Amino acid sequence: MTEMMKAVRIVGGELAYGEVPRPVPRAGELLVRVAATAVNRADLLQVQGLYPAPFDAPQDIPGLEYAGEVAAIGEGVPASDFSLGDRVFGLVGGGSYAEYVAVHHRAVARIPAAVTAPLTEVAAVPEAFLTAYDAIVTQGGLAAGDTLLIHAVGSGVGTAAAQIGHGLGAVVVGTARSPEKLERAKEYGLLHGIIPGGPSPSGPTPTFATAVLAATGGRGVDVALDLVGGAYVGETVAAMALGGRILLVGLTGGRTADVDLGALLRKRVRIHGTVLRSRPLEERIALHAVLERRIAPRLATGAYRPVVDAVLPLAEAAEAHRRIASNGTFGKVVLVP
Ligand SMILES: NC(=O)c1ccc[n+]([C@@H]2O[C@H](COP(=O)([O-])OP(=O)(O)OC[C@H]3O[C@@H](n4cnc5c(N)ncnc54)[C@H](OP(=O)(O)O)[C@@H]3O)[C@@H](O)[C@H]2O)c1
Repeated sequence: MTEMMKAVRIVGGELAYGEVPRPVPRAGELLVRVAATAVNRADLLQVQGLYPAPFDAPQDIPGLEYAGEVAAIGEGVPASDFSLGDRVFGLVGGGSYAEYVAVHHRAVARIPAAVTAPLTEVAAVPEAFLTAYDAIVTQGGLAAGDTLLIHAVGSGVGTAAAQIGHGLGAVVVGTARSPEKLERAKEYGLLHGIIPGGPSPSGPTPTFATAVLAATGGRGVDVALDLVGGAYVGETVAAMALGGRILLVGLTGGRTADVDLGALLRKRVRIHGTVLRSRPLEERIALHAVLERRIAPRLATGAYRPVVDAVLPLAEAAEAHRRIASNGTFGKVVLVP
């Protein structure tokens, strides 16, 4: 008899809560009982049909991250690697808006016993902290004493990046369109908060380069985490130091940009585009090693703190999406099956 589970599916451009067959772990996979998952902007795009799941992920169940417990172990997983009940967290290509998700046994991270935060908070970590860490540290080479600019610093990824940058000993500068988010981000390592366009957030063109240069003694920033894109990119180039690196991660501000290429040349600035979801298995295994070895220990010490705006039942996923789309959230929105 097919075992069933509760899940949220995309049906005709809407989210529908109901029963679906529970996944059966294939060889090399673990079945994880999902204690909590969290919402990502990519989920909103997927519902609109604009961001299909990778071929090897469930096509109609959204959800890119989870925290939970090992509920079954597929054939071929080394017996010494996992036991039933082990606490794990990580990323998936889709399918975590559900009571259970199947994951490759190497593309998963253990939650250390010393992490005392509830799994509803731990579920807010994988996508935000891995996206930020991979961009600013692994690809951007952020080091102690550097300056870091984060756009949308009150977002899930932005609040993680502020903690990572601050923890590394970087000076953290950030933008957001509300003074409340900038104020709250200071608790997570933000030193200089800037509202683009000056005191009025309603101006059509974002301007922040002058303020960033002023905050960095005229030098500009070494690394910029751009979670907005669009018109922010040109201003970001103007805010960079010599040899600076821009990590372009989000495009809520638009897919095209007007950039002074002369400034890019003169300052030898590099722009890296990056995405986590579509990476091949080998790279996802490496990402989970970062989650387990670099991020989880700092969760245990409290150096990194999950930032949770709200926890909602999985059945209210549509309401969670509305909150994210409103741009009013600070940190992550978590869903509990
Ligand atoms: N490449 C990847 O692998 C990857 C992975 C994860 C996330 N992302 C992307 O990274 C971005 C942040 O993700 P998240 O989950 O952390 O987002 P989030 O928590 O939903 O926060 C996004 C924030 O961006 C700001 N924003 C939205 N539209 C804007 C606009 N037009 N101009 C300026 N600011 C705007 C809003 O804050 P304010 O109103 O305060 O400015 C909003 O709250 C998203 O674009 C997401 O798709 C990419």
